Amino acid sequence: MSNRQKTYTTGARFMLHGGDYNPDQWLDHPDILAEDLKLMKLSHTNTFSVGIFAWSALEPEEGMYQFEWLDEIFRTIDENGGRIILATPSGARPAWLSQAYPEVLRVNDSRVKQLHGGRHNHCFTSPVYREKTRKINELLAERYGNHRALLMWHISNEYSGDCHCSLCQAAFRSWLQEKYKDLKSLNDAWWGPFWSHTYTDWSQIESPSSIGESAVHGLNLDWKRFVTDQTISFFENEIVPIKAITPNIPITTNFMADTHDLIPFQSLDYSKFAKHMDVISWDAYPAWHNDWETTADLAMKVGFINDLYRSLKQQPFLLMESTPSAVNWHSVNKAKRPGMHLLSAMQMVAHGSDSILYFQWRKSRGSSEKFHGAVVDHDNSPNNRVFQDVATVGKVLEQLSDVVGTNRSSNVAILYDWESQWALDDAQGFGLETKRYPQTLQQHYRTFWERDIPVDVITKEQDFNPYKLLIVPMLYLASEQTISRLKAFVEQGGTLVMTYMSGLVDESDLAYLGGWHKDLQDVFGMHPLETDTFYPADENAVEYDGKSYRVKDYAAIINLKTATEEGQYKQDFYADTSAVTKHSYGKGCAYYIGARLEDTFHEAFYEKIIEELSLKLEAVIDHGKGVSVQCRYDDEHEYIFIMNFTEEKQVVTIPNSMKNVLSGENEEGEIILNVYETRVLKRER
Ligand code: GLA
Ligand code: ZN
Repeated sequence: MSNRQKTYTTGARFMLHGGDYNPDQWLDHPDILAEDLKLMKLSHTNTFSVGIFAWSALEPEEGMYQFEWLDEIFRTIDENGGRIILATPSGARPAWLSQAYPEVLRVNDSRVKQLHGGRHNHCFTSPVYREKTRKINELLAERYGNHRALLMWHISNEYSGDCHCSLCQAAFRSWLQEKYKDLKSLNDAWWGPFWSHTYTDWSQIESPSSIGESAVHGLNLDWKRFVTDQTISFFENEIVPIKAITPNIPITTNFMADTHDLIPFQSLDYSKFAKHMDVISWDAYPAWHNDWETTADLAMKVGFINDLYRSLKQQPFLLMESTPSAVNWHSVNKAKRPGMHLLSAMQMVAHGSDSILYFQWRKSRGSSEKFHGAVVDHDNSPNNRVFQDVATVGKVLEQLSDVVGTNRSSNVAILYDWESQWALDDAQGFGLETKRYPQTLQQHYRTFWERDIPVDVITKEQDFNPYKLLIVPMLYLASEQTISRLKAFVEQGGTLVMTYMSGLVDESDLAYLGGWHKDLQDVFGMHPLETDTFYPADENAVEYDGKSYRVKDYAAIINLKTATEEGQYKQDFYADTSAVTKHSYGKGCAYYIGARLEDTFHEAFYEKIIEELSLKLEAVIDHGKGVSVQCRYDDEHEYIFIMNFTEEKQVVTIPNSMKNVLSGENEEGEIILNVYETRVLKRER
């Protein structure tokens, strides 16, 4: 998708640099608060997210508000030239609130009511909690809505989880009634007669539970959909007064990733949530320097998730949280090596972030996050390595103001779908440990990442037509509507790639009857007959273009009709049958990859398509493995980020003279990138 006009999502025309600031923890230390202001200048930071967990400082007793400390923070940050992202405090609540209104406490799936404590654990249905959050939000909006320092709203924090209390059960039943209208339709969609699970009264329906129902897949899927909708409904309730009082201040809430493999956050469908937000923001905590993958492998995954979250709104996003050094919750919390902080920041910007924000500004003195990385350490000094790294990033960001609002542009899309992932994970069958849907998408993304070809990672309701190539791996759940849109995409000239385990069930998680969907059969000129699942030691091979590639985990056995065979299985009872097929349909073309194949297959396979569709970048920069080149554009300029994700120096060739944005010099020909170095070049379009 190409969008060449600058979009200033927050209104700011500079890169935001700063992060979560918790003066509420230091109200008894005016000396520290004064010190903060000096350190903010020294660290070249300009934006602070305030109030995220400050409810007990704002409303220490029910109905007794104290805003004076926050007034002072607004005043001093403003005087210092800074901006504020004001948070609503619903992510954690005061003890008095839980004590007075126990209905706000969550009930877990085993129906155990939780005690007060922790955070991110309120009932999202509770009318009392909704009323209390709306009230405090209204007071914040009235008090600070016109303040010059207010840049945007940060609603709650990292919404997540579910609640199984009686209020939520009732809300779920209403949601189901709204969706299905009558019980017969619900029983049909959930395949009720299986294990005698037909419901005869709405009141019999309970949310999925480890001590109750967990085998009805339609129920599990609808519960997940409900949880997303109910979380959005809670969020919508939070922003009622905010929208009314400050209609021009943009709204975000911070998204997450599931960490070990840096895959999209699983428990909420962000494609739905995104529609309710003005700006996408997310919290990125990759485990740099880990012991299970190379720096470049991890960088590829960061690229993938950035391209997904950016594509949700097809506009620049914000990095809302990151750590300047280590976190405190990985299994090993390793410090960023010299150069990594700047490199990891530049990668976010290269993929479309208009900010580098941190958790946290200052390390807290007590409790569980006292050793989590921060801009200001317990030594309170601007001289330590981490603080200096932050200041370096700040100075670089000050030179990148022109990049703010620029977008990316791509002809290739990979489709990611939360609902399909939920259903696939729930599916009892195939390999329980090897489905690895998001990791499979990352694998397809890798080929393009390594070739500097930009990719949008889109969701199913987005427009497919702007793309030349659409890659749809493992789309297990595909509705009639999605299937007909894929068909139209090919008919109109698109190139579609699909893989094994796609299009097996509909949106209720019911298997399609009568073989693979007729439309898919037409588009692909073949149909998969069965899916063979491998034990970890099992292997097969596919011969493609004269070379043999290893198959792991899955192989679809194919009935070839009008498609041509591009690859063939070499072993087992389906030896010599088709594994990879190609079919012309309408004005376009559809490829089916029947097996899970090694990376080198994807390289060979996509190389041909890249040639055919002329997907290469205009500015081809030669480099070795582990260097990533990503671009942002506006009408007049292209900003090219060349990043060395290896532990060695790298030689890179710049084809024609371009301006180095940071040094002001022109560069051309061979240049040397130091370990973890980034060059930002600019050229006229
Ligand atoms: C999350 C939260 C923050 C903080 C960080 C620590 O992202 O939003 O409040 O706990 O994790 O990494
Ligand atoms: Zn509840």
